[in-house]
Amino acid sequence: MSKPPTLTTTAGAPISDNQNSLSAGPRGPLLLQDYQLIEKLAHQNRERIPERVVHAKGWGAFGTLTITHDITRFTKADLFSKLGKTTDLLLRFSTVAGEQGAADAERDVRGFALKFYTEQGNWDLVGNNTPVFFVRDPMKFPDFIRTQKRHPRSNLRSPTAMWDFWSLSPESLHQVTILMSDRGLPVAPMFMNGYGSHTFSFINAANERFWVKFHFKTMQGHKHYTNAEGAQVIAKSRESYQEELFGGIERGQFPRWKMQVQVMPEADADKTPYNPFDLTKVWPHGDYPLIDVGVLELNRNANNYFAEIEQAAFSPSNIVPGIGFSPDKMLQARIFAYADAHRHRIGTHYEALPVNQPKNPAHHYHKDGAMRFFRNDTGNPDAYYEPNSVNGPAEAPDFREPPLAISGDADRYNHRIGNDDYSQAGALFRLMTLEQRGRLMDNIAEAMQGVPVEIIKRQVVHFYRADPDYGIGVATRMGLSAADLPQAIAAE
Ligand code: NDP
Ligand code: HEM
Repeated sequence: MSKPPTLTTTAGAPISDNQNSLSAGPRGPLLLQDYQLIEKLAHQNRERIPERVVHAKGWGAFGTLTITHDITRFTKADLFSKLGKTTDLLLRFSTVAGEQGAADAERDVRGFALKFYTEQGNWDLVGNNTPVFFVRDPMKFPDFIRTQKRHPRSNLRSPTAMWDFWSLSPESLHQVTILMSDRGLPVAPMFMNGYGSHTFSFINAANERFWVKFHFKTMQGHKHYTNAEGAQVIAKSRESYQEELFGGIERGQFPRWKMQVQVMPEADADKTPYNPFDLTKVWPHGDYPLIDVGVLELNRNANNYFAEIEQAAFSPSNIVPGIGFSPDKMLQARIFAYADAHRHRIGTHYEALPVNQPKNPAHHYHKDGAMRFFRNDTGNPDAYYEPNSVNGPAEAPDFREPPLAISGDADRYNHRIGNDDYSQAGALFRLMTLEQRGRLMDNIAEAMQGVPVEIIKRQVVHFYRADPDYGIGVATRMGLSAADLPQAIAAE
């Protein structure tokens, strides 16, 4: 082996002894001038940054998206511009509720956050392994998350809080049904689908707008644990996802997903019987079939987990020409929330960190602040304000989106009026086999243990409205009189 590099201080000065602190005599005390020891201890004190307020536990890897089908009739986005084109990406999976040290094999929704390093900037698609969500108005997101985190007094998670909130929020029923089904506890990240979940927009070269939903279908097949199997896994290892994902990629097993889209012409949004911008609903495949786009593959582990996965900053506000937002109220709130979180969690210039940096040159006029370590050369030191007459970076009107017609009086509209929260949850229940339905209802009954009976009754009515067998099945498992259910609902 060749001679190792010389150990240095952060200022580059060689360190002669990294074993023994500097002391007055062999027994001490220590000398304040031991700047090498002070530097070491001070750095240790600063090794942690705040964990993500949600989705704190995660696993990630790098890979590529390869385009296999032409969708340029819908979008001019550079990454879809020609067959065979590959775009580098980062994919971070996560659970929602657990802290950074939480066990991997817990029942929870999984995050599926993508950063595509396109030639026209980074496109982040920050989705989940479910096509829908628990709430449809962002005013309710912090309340929902409260119910998933620890009780302020007991510091324990509270099934009562969860079911109290869900039973008072019928829009959650669809997502609760997915969470409690087999798909609520995947064996590892490669055995689950990913969804952009929200409706986004595509804009093509003729500046026409389409509404779009993104799907990533696992090519490894779906694999799930039962609750009992999950508990056994956790008893042996809290890191089963990291072991499977990191270990698999190290061994050359590269997981893949088929990327597909559903596309809706802009004008159709006024015609569908459901609000196509409601995050608690899917677009039925029968109405809007899946269109193939490409294949996503993960094939490279991060070299440093903290630098490349923990400091990764995904934001729905990162869009690129050809891909845009939609009126979905949840998406609108997320456009604000993520970059705000990153400035707090990582720091002002988080987008200059290598993992977050676009591959194409970024030219902006943001200036100073903590950790301004990067160059942002515009080729001219006088170009530090805009407009200027020194040929500094200038706007490009070609990238303007077509105008979007909006209407209506500004008001706080009750999102629980006129919304069908039951049909799609019922359709999901009915597409399950009898065994899958049984496990779904067993999981619900297990999760409801210890919850006050008034809350259980309120929730069982929602299950019944989705499908009578669903309501009666859960009621029976909870020792309630299922025979009373139809009359109770009819009497409301
Ligand atoms: P389809 O029969 O065309 O599609 C059913 C979908 O359900 C498939 O995408 C399938 O995913 C997925 N699925 C199957 N079992 C489960 C489960 N236990 N948990 C979650 N998803 C599951 O029907 P529709 O499009 O008419 O939708 C019917 C219902 O299917 C919806 O109400 C919704 O609950 C659910 N669904 C619909 C999706 C959509 O975008 N339309 C997406 C996902 C779920 P896969 O192909 O991977 O097996
Ligand atoms: C993470 C807010 C809804 C998926 C986060 C973070 C915040 C946040 C603040 C932490 C970001 C960070 O520190 O890096 C919100 C708000 C929501 C919302 C305010 C609703 C109004 C959703 C929805 C989805 C989602 C609907 C999926 C469809 C994710 C994922 C992460 C995340 C995957 C982790 C990203 C990563 O891996 O770094 N969310 N969220 N969130 N959220 Fe949301």
